[in-house]
Amino acid sequence: MLSQQTIDIIKSTVPVLEKYGVTITKTFYKNMFAENPQLLNYFNHANQQQGRQQTALANSVYAAAAHIDNLEAIVPAVMLIAHKHRALGILPEHYPIVGQNLLRAIKEVLGDAATDEIINAWAEAYGVIADVFISVEEDLYQKAEANGGWRLFKPFKVAKKVAENDEVSSFYLVPEDGQPLPEFEPGQYVTVRVKPTGSEYFANRHYTVSQPSNNNEYRISVKREDENTPAGVVSTFLHNEINEGDTVELSAPAGGFTLVENNNPVLFVSGGIGVTPLNTMLQTMELGRNVTFYQSARNNKSVAFKEQIEKKIDELNGTYRIHYSDELGYIKKEDLAPFIQPNTEVYVCGPAPFMESVISIAKELNVSNENIHYEFFGPLMTVNAL
Ligand code: HEM
Repeated sequence: MLSQQTIDIIKSTVPVLEKYGVTITKTFYKNMFAENPQLLNYFNHANQQQGRQQTALANSVYAAAAHIDNLEAIVPAVMLIAHKHRALGILPEHYPIVGQNLLRAIKEVLGDAATDEIINAWAEAYGVIADVFISVEEDLYQKAEANGGWRLFKPFKVAKKVAENDEVSSFYLVPEDGQPLPEFEPGQYVTVRVKPTGSEYFANRHYTVSQPSNNNEYRISVKREDENTPAGVVSTFLHNEINEGDTVELSAPAGGFTLVENNNPVLFVSGGIGVTPLNTMLQTMELGRNVTFYQSARNNKSVAFKEQIEKKIDELNGTYRIHYSDELGYIKKEDLAPFIQPNTEVYVCGPAPFMESVISIAKELNVSNENIHYEFFGPLMTVNAL
């Protein structure tokens, strides 16, 4: 248990650290990778270069610290991060490395203002926060291993590679050990680990499993990103160099963005490749629930899974709308209003600005917070629940 004095020091220094948050975490990453280059096997270099990861980690450590006397309140947000950590194979022994480097960076940036008393208080608080993550993650590792699953990464063969459109290809992945695959919940993702040509380190990316659970294979559907940007490294490698018969490594399915089982009407709103988790959820639905699929794509060349969605929506007597943003611009309130009732569950997935706009439209149309479900692709910029 932390003493009241430690808690007071933490709470009073959170605003200062927030102010210098990004500088501190940039210093932290620079030092940490210089001394522990093996950690570059875990971090997404694209997010690093764009500063996104720095913001995510800085925000969440300070936000967790602000709740240091009531950590129960942050468990939902911890879960989300813990799923990602588990999927990436983050282990208890990594936490002290992060902790030591974070404290060192605080000292380096704040100088004399970071007294021993402050540094010691933060060391204690970090220890408490790290213990929460470590124990939640161990629980997730055990769940991943249960029912024929596995703990870290294992090799999968590409059994089939199919182009869905000009920019999206699906990969059908079969475990090389021939073991039956554990069930996953529609909306969950698997993490692919590859070593792109010329790279010294592994690169990891999370991809939604894009078809309902079966015991033999997982399918992922990968959009080709710009090959000249760090964000495109893995998708370009998969598109250009991974073919039928090749091997990639996968960790067991993770993530909490899944379909809530109740009888409320459902509105799926997807932007671009954000269609993948929503289509998987749709494909597992049974007749009787009122469902609308509102799919936004730039144009008819970039729309994915149209036939599958059409067929399933027909079976469910639902409604399907495709919104071509090149022609119609962004989704507007009047586009979604006809499909929203007070108890509609809205599921949103797509690029961050798209999601922010759809979420605020849903709120304007009186959908309550607990009925709005979403998942950001890429690190969270703000951890609201924290
Ligand atoms: C991702 C927080 C410890 C490695 C993240 C994210 C947050 C976060 C908020 C973004 C989640 C998202 O993508 O939505 C924390 C906190 C920690 C902690 C509060 C300590 C209490 C660690 C440790 C490691 C680690 C010990 C391993 C060295 C990663 C990696 C990612 C990540 C590799 C994915 C980043 C990327 O590649 O974009 N963490 N983390 N984290 N974390 Fe942690």
